[in-house]
Amino acid sequence: MVKVESPGSKTTRPDSRWLDVSLLVFLAGLAILPPFLEWHKQVILFAIGIAQLWEAWLVKRYPRQGPIGAVALKIALATLLIDHTGELGINSTYYPIYFLPVITAALYFRPLVTLLWTLLASAAYLSYLYPVLKEYSEYSIDTAGYTVLAIRIFFFFLVGMVVNRVMVAYREQSNSYQLLAEQLTETNRELERAYAETRRSERLAALGQLTAGLAHEIRNPLGIIKGSAEMLNQKLASANPLAAELAGYISSEVNRLSALVSRFLDFARPLQAETRPQDVTETLERSLRQVADQWHGGKVTVERAYQTNLPHVPLDAALCEQVFVNLLQNGFEAMGDEGGTLRLEVAEAQSEKRRGVEVRIQDTGPGIPPELREQIFNPFVTTKNSGVGLGLSIVSQIMDEHHGSIRLLEMPARGAGFGLFFPV
Ligand SMILES: Nc1ncnc2c1ncn2[C@@H]1O[C@H](COP(=O)(O)OP(=O)(O)OP(=O)(O)O)[C@@H](O)[C@H]1O
Ligand SMILES: [Mg+2]
Repeated sequence: MVKVESPGSKTTRPDSRWLDVSLLVFLAGLAILPPFLEWHKQVILFAIGIAQLWEAWLVKRYPRQGPIGAVALKIALATLLIDHTGELGINSTYYPIYFLPVITAALYFRPLVTLLWTLLASAAYLSYLYPVLKEYSEYSIDTAGYTVLAIRIFFFFLVGMVVNRVMVAYREQSNSYQLLAEQLTETNRELERAYAETRRSERLAALGQLTAGLAHEIRNPLGIIKGSAEMLNQKLASANPLAAELAGYISSEVNRLSALVSRFLDFARPLQAETRPQDVTETLERSLRQVADQWHGGKVTVERAYQTNLPHVPLDAALCEQVFVNLLQNGFEAMGDEGGTLRLEVAEAQSEKRRGVEVRIQDTGPGIPPELREQIFNPFVTTKNSGVGLGLSIVSQIMDEHHGSIRLLEMPARGAGFGLFFPV
């Protein structure tokens, strides 16, 4: 399967450790240039180095406030450096240090915010005009001086915008990669699901053929054994009570076996639903009577909530009866000797944009354990001593044949619930 790594999120910067190291080397270069004996300058350059190293951690830790702090700190440090690298701050040859905060802003912020940060950096730089312009100053500035300042400031903006442009493109691209990665992951998951489904179907098909053949072959001898046992019973009943009793056992066990074989055949036989539009509640009621009549456990109260004027849905009545009988039987068995309440709801519903009718069968038994929820529709999954574990897989086959679906309902209290959707 294809494995997809998602590129970094949009606030992180392309991270390269050696870039940080080289930056420190260049800062060290600045530190050994004149004015060399100005210790303020060395300290500030050192602080800028620390700020640079600290920035990656800060931004990772606080994705929102981190960049703001980093840029503001760099503007402050740059402004301090200017003050300590020239007799007059505005004349300092270290003014390009402002590119640091400007570029940092361009890395993390949108264009408009980058412009604002650049404006702030420029204002900080131009604040050194104050000693020149104030009254009775010993300094003065001419037009050429203003031009030089304007050129420097425009370069700040130019660099900010160019870096920001590249960053915006980078972010867009990384977003689209991210999206692509998510789509790929989703497709991958679907493929895996489909693959598992196919494997399961293949296994089931093979198993089905085998079972059908075997069940068919078992049925004939069973018939003969049963017939013989009954004959023995008739012939010996009066003369030999023990033989009659044993013949009775044979006959009843054979009945059980043939019921089992029929169940396998139900499961294995290719289904052919012959549907005709009809009212699903009639079939449901018939199935309920059938299950309730044979029930020997605790008392079960049945609650019904059938919507009136239900649309007719195409059903194969015999197959649907199997569906309902299986689910009702499970519900009764789950409630067992304690008994409980069986709730039947039938209402119009929508599933995957298709209109139809949903039948909900809910009981107040112990419910289905979470670890079994994925498996109960697989054949031979059972928690019952006398169960085969075929009921629900027959149900889901029949529902597929009706182009419908079966789902487990979320139960508010205890119990299990199944929703059967029949499309119109
Ligand atoms: N209403 C329910 N409440 C609790 N558990 C249930 C319910 N319905 C199904 N189950 C669980 O799902 C398992 C599978 O059910 P399924 O009907 O497929 O097989 P079974 O009832 O065990 O055997 P059979 O083939 O005789 O139906 C059950 O053994 C049971 O553990
Ligand atoms: Mg069952």
